[in-house]
Amino acid sequence: MTVLVVIFVVYNSIIYTQGTSNNTPLMSEQAIKGEKLYQENNCTACHQFYGLGGYLGPDLTNVISAKNKGAEYVKAFLNSGVKTMPKFNFTEEEKEAIAQFLTEVDQTGHYPIVEADKKASGWVDMKYKNQ
Ligand code: HEC
Repeated sequence: MTVLVVIFVVYNSIIYTQGTSNNTPLMSEQAIKGEKLYQENNCTACHQFYGLGGYLGPDLTNVISAKNKGAEYVKAFLNSGVKTMPKFNFTEEEKEAIAQFLTEVDQTGHYPIVEADKKASGWVDMKYKNQ
């Protein structure tokens, strides 16, 4: 019993005192500014990242790398007001920041995943939008 208790204590002290590896990419300062604007202006009420968010407008995960879209396209949307998207009054600098935020979001992955193939081994082979 004593041996078990000692093993338990040693094991837990190792587990709970080790730092976790952190591979999360850091956003640039400008992208953080853009994220703040994105939050303050409630873009997420209508838009999604990776399918999560409000559903009035389109998913913005890959709006930067999508064909015929990109930073200039995004900036053009912001102050014009289309359909149910309200017209904002961002400065050029703010528009740049939002575009930079969306650019860095875009770099995190692809959405939607168009095809997924489940293998007998249990692995799932995914085909991404841009493949
Ligand atoms: C009230 C809902 C609403 C809010 C809030 C809103 N949008 Fe939109 N947005 C829309 C709709 C609806 C469209 C689609 C318009 C169209 O296709 O004509 C759109 C389109 C866009 C597009 C073009 C997407 C594409 O793939 O064509 C971008 C970029 C965008 N919005 C960014 C933003 C940002 C950034 C914010 C916050 C500052 C925001 N929107 C806030 C409703 C909204």
